[in-house]
Amino acid sequence: MDFLRHVKNILHTYWIGFVCLIYQVLWRPKELKDLQQHNGCVAIVTGGDGDIGMETVRALCRHGMHVIIGVKEETNGQSVEAAIKATCPFAKLDCLPLDLASFASIQKFVQQFKAKGLPLHVLVNNAGIMHAPFAPTASSSGSLESHLGINYLGHFVLTRLLLDMLKRSGTKERCARIVNVSSAVHAISTIDSIKEIQFSKFYCPYGAYGQSKLAVTLGTYELDRRLRDAEFPITVNCLHPGLADTNLFRHLSPVLQPVKNLCAWLGFMWTPSQGARTPVFLSLSEEVEHTSGKYFDNCQAVPSSPSSYDVRLQKELWNWSCEITQLPCDIQDEINIHYT
Ligand SMILES: NC(=O)c1ccc[n+]([C@@H]2O[C@H](COP(=O)([O-])OP(=O)(O)OC[C@H]3O[C@@H](n4cnc5c(N)ncnc54)[C@H](OP(=O)(O)O)[C@@H]3O)[C@@H](O)[C@H]2O)c1
Repeated sequence: MDFLRHVKNILHTYWIGFVCLIYQVLWRPKELKDLQQHNGCVAIVTGGDGDIGMETVRALCRHGMHVIIGVKEETNGQSVEAAIKATCPFAKLDCLPLDLASFASIQKFVQQFKAKGLPLHVLVNNAGIMHAPFAPTASSSGSLESHLGINYLGHFVLTRLLLDMLKRSGTKERCARIVNVSSAVHAISTIDSIKEIQFSKFYCPYGAYGQSKLAVTLGTYELDRRLRDAEFPITVNCLHPGLADTNLFRHLSPVLQPVKNLCAWLGFMWTPSQGARTPVFLSLSEEVEHTSGKYFDNCQAVPSSPSSYDVRLQKELWNWSCEITQLPCDIQDEINIHYT
């Protein structure tokens, strides 16, 4: 049964990849025009040293934002800074260590950011891993499968710890923004119950990635409902950046690497800077000033998978995430936690 599920996940992932490639052959990435300068505004980008992340940071810096990037490997910080300043000499940029697999590291990142005394207008939850071998990440209540731990739960904790800052920095006219990077392959996943979310018996990296991105999408919709109920001046959207030729594919089988390289060479896959257009659009564009709780592809709101609209699942995931992370379910409650 598990084996068949594994095969189904692989076939479904490649089918979605194929459909994305056809789309990308037919439609070019949307050009970003008329984006305003955001001088004095501050953004955080996780995985800002990755391919799409770095292009997102570059674009935000070009539009006058002060960008703080969360980097897992501290040594990457200096090279990212140098690379961005080479094309954008006036870029305001800081790097802080952030390992999304560790709640303690996330909390330290937030403390270091808060110590800077800056506001926070945009949070881009971009970092991610794909099809990685099984490697559980530690959490305060046991171990977590790493795709779920990094792609979804790490960003859940980061967002919750920064929500007060976003709330203070946003206004009714100009909301603060949360931009969650999901993926089209969230659609391979159909979790019937949150109890299925931890691959306890049979690990399938394809299923794990799809599931983590379904969780990102479900979590975006649930957070949107809670932000509206609490009347916080914050919007939250999620997106598929397109199939872009990046380091994300490092775990792709050696047999398929040449196929991927050929698709990239033929221009069927987007470049990292083309992949960054939708996150940049959601971070900066006036067109989405009051848009929240939507899923975007190529800078347009499109429907996500049917499972992602399951409100029961969204709520179940929210409660499960709060339990695992020991955060209060109500976003208005004060957070009093110290992760070790
Ligand atoms: N490329 C695509 O076709 C595609 C398609 C759909 C969705 N996406 C999504 O787009 C986002 C960006 O991916 P990308 O394509 O730019 O891949 P990438 O170049 O591999 O970038 C991923 C970034 O995430 C960081 N990261 C990984 N684990 C981390 C951790 N534990 N803590 C903090 N940071 C961590 C990586 O840092 P290290 O390099 O130091 O590990 C890297 O900076 C991901 O969320 C991905 O799922 C990409």
